[in-house]
Amino acid sequence: VKALLLYQPSAEHRRALERVAPRANLVVAEGEDHARAEIAGADAVLGNRHLVQTLPAARRLRWVQTGSTGVNAILAARPPLGDAVLTCARGVYDDEVADHATALVLALARGLHRARDDQHARRWPRYPLVTLAGRRALILGWGGVGRGIARRLTACGMAVEAARRRHEAPPAPGEEGAVVHGPRTWRDALARTDVLVSALPLTAATRGIVGAAELAALPPGALVVNVGRGGTLDEDAVLAALRSGHLGGAGLDVLRDEPPAPDHPAWSEPGLLLTPHVARSLEASPRRWEPLFAENLRRFAAGEPLLGVVDVEAGY
Ligand SMILES: NC(=O)c1ccc[n+]([C@@H]2O[C@H](COP(=O)([O-])OP(=O)(O)OC[C@H]3O[C@@H](n4cnc5c(N)ncnc54)[C@H](OP(=O)(O)O)[C@@H]3O)[C@@H](O)[C@H]2O)c1
Repeated sequence: VKALLLYQPSAEHRRALERVAPRANLVVAEGEDHARAEIAGADAVLGNRHLVQTLPAARRLRWVQTGSTGVNAILAARPPLGDAVLTCARGVYDDEVADHATALVLALARGLHRARDDQHARRWPRYPLVTLAGRRALILGWGGVGRGIARRLTACGMAVEAARRRHEAPPAPGEEGAVVHGPRTWRDALARTDVLVSALPLTAATRGIVGAAELAALPPGALVVNVGRGGTLDEDAVLAALRSGHLGGAGLDVLRDEPPAPDHPAWSEPGLLLTPHVARSLEASPRRWEPLFAENLRRFAAGEPLLGVVDVEAGY
């Protein structure tokens, strides 16, 4: 097995990989040209750096492991993956992304974004704010991230509903005490939703899934947060709904174009709280995906089923 690493492994992580797959030939890519030359003979690729650029040179690839959870950019690569299995880092960042989504919800509810603006302007206004207890949240995406958000918002006293793709039954209480919807019924919940949180992957089915009609169906003053992927939520519609006063606030960690163009109205919209795609933040060594990479390399070398396999048809 030849495994190409698209990152510099720490000595400890490299030893862990060698331990689980002693017969594997581990090659570390030193830049894009080297990665392109080496991927031709590789059976497996681990890591994201230069991946999309060098995939077209692959000839015998059977497995690709990414360090990210979202795989829309990799699936959009041309030519596509062929028969290679793609595994993602599903589950690795659940807690921090859920923390971030909850932080955005609380910041909007308690007006922290406006308070910070007021502080910088040396203003001291007082105003009513939102208490989460007793209010209702709808979480789009019921993966590890969505469930982590549900646990946190439930702890704040919110009633939680959620939407997933593979759910045919009528809405019913599921794990984490949330009422879970399928794709056909979640829109019925919008009219009673005070806080809409999206933790969706970007796929053909989720692109633009929250648009002007969905925002209009929310009650006045509702809050909207997106930590999934830009492109699932129509940002122009969000800005319009903030300006009209229909939405009480919006918190976006992900945007269709990151960063927004210098003259984009998002920069100066007071009701909008932007964070620069840091729900999964930069990390130092040891990186959180290292144990997953080692476990999946062990499984690959042993011919066992891999963890975090992406359904290429579904797009996540
Ligand atoms: N901002 C960041 O830094 C950051 C960090 C990590 C992840 N993310 C994003 O967050 C996303 C979610 O992460 P995760 O680990 O929770 O992913 P996951 O485990 O793959 O869960 C995805 C969820 O979305 C649901 N879904 C997919 N298509 C849908 C549709 N058309 N309608 C309704 N629900 C749909 C799935 O339904 P089923 O349960 O029925 O399959 C599943 O519940 C990732 O794909 C990634 O893009 C962002």
